[in-house]
Amino acid sequence: MDKIRIRGGRPLSGNITIGGAKNAALPLMAAGLLTAERLVLTNVPLLADIQTMAILLRNHGVAVATPGNDGRTLSIGGPIANIEAPYDIVRKMRASFLVLGPILARTGEARVSLPGGCQIGARPVDLHLKGLEQLGAEIRLDAGYVLASAPQGLQGATIVLPFPSVGATENLLMAASLANGQTILANAAREPEITNLAECLVAMGARIAGIGSDRLTIEGVPCLHGATHAIIPDRIETGSYACAAAITGGAVHLRGGRADHLGAVVRTLAEAGVEIREEDGGLSVSRRNGLHGIDFITEPYPGFPTDMQAQLMALMSVAEGASMITENIFEDRFGHAAELRRMGANIKVHGASAIIRGTPMLSGAPVMASDLRASFGLIVAGLAAHGETTVNRVYHLDRGYEAVEQKLAACGADIERVAA
Ligand code: EPZ
Repeated sequence: MDKIRIRGGRPLSGNITIGGAKNAALPLMAAGLLTAERLVLTNVPLLADIQTMAILLRNHGVAVATPGNDGRTLSIGGPIANIEAPYDIVRKMRASFLVLGPILARTGEARVSLPGGCQIGARPVDLHLKGLEQLGAEIRLDAGYVLASAPQGLQGATIVLPFPSVGATENLLMAASLANGQTILANAAREPEITNLAECLVAMGARIAGIGSDRLTIEGVPCLHGATHAIIPDRIETGSYACAAAITGGAVHLRGGRADHLGAVVRTLAEAGVEIREEDGGLSVSRRNGLHGIDFITEPYPGFPTDMQAQLMALMSVAEGASMITENIFEDRFGHAAELRRMGANIKVHGASAIIRGTPMLSGAPVMASDLRASFGLIVAGLAAHGETTVNRVYHLDRGYEAVEQKLAACGADIERVAA
């Protein structure tokens, strides 16, 4: 397993190009199952999870091609020959579960492996299943698989989500697009990735009102057609590199970064002393003075995103004063705290909250990545730490970040990938 080795202490300076959003690309690829015609996606990030989703779609019999020469365009389409999403793919990537709604809506039946839990929590899918039942599907569980059937097609319904689940909103939005009649999705998630998906579905012929709000109204249509749709820039990648720039005291321009997708992160970083300015088609990140501790809680969009929590914890480890972070979305998403403590961070975790008391300097150490965003948090810490940090199990990182060491090295970081 590859490692990433960093020798800290060098301020970052230069330009970083932000890629397409992983968490938009994955549901958009699943949307390709809603029509036999070609769905063309552009600005596709080159990530392991994208490859996994392409393998899953091909397993369903759907053609997935990469026209052009840079692999950043995907063309998806064709008949669904196999309604089963197998355990050995779903267990690798939970987002595979997003094929359930489209396959059920398109063919009237689906057999999708239940995703297991993961490092950050149990991550049940009960809201997806209850919503599909409200749309008239019959749902059974058998040997770890969800068997869903709707031989007469799905029927529109009013669904009130008890929690604005991103995945449940996406699965139900896609299913409702082909249901008979009107569906109202109330208390829907509002992340920019959902807006990106809804706009793509509309381009494919879906009839959706309330896009961007927590109440989506979908008038089902008999079928959807092909379209070409661009994937939005990755707001979490943008925020992650902003933390990397900030902890080194450098100045970096994040090409393509969108402040309108990162309101809570920009405000929180500003409170900590990080300046983020919109200019030249991206975001310029720097800081004039020291970092100071702040408090924040993770919430559904437009609140502070849980996917930025680890990166901020790393940044606050060297801020002046104390910070308190409360993780409201996942029940076990502080795995990176123990690794940061190995680097000298002063962090105490009490249930859903963590208290960080800033220390002037972290020390490089061998550390273990536990999940995708924790991996980047450890890189943020390593960029500022005195000495050498080795981040192990970087396969976590490769699932959601493209060419991290190249992007950081181009800004002056002393960083390299070490093949294990
Ligand atoms: C999406 O996961 C993202 N993944 C996650 O990003 C992100 O952290 C999360 O949304 C929250 O923003 C993708 O988009 C591929 P949820 P998802 O359903 O859809 C509970 C990353 O690092 N819940 O909003 O799984 C659940 O247990 C990943 O890129 C239920 O209880 O998130 C969790 O506590 C990590 N029942 C909370 O809701 C359900 O049926 C949020 O889950 C569904 C969810």
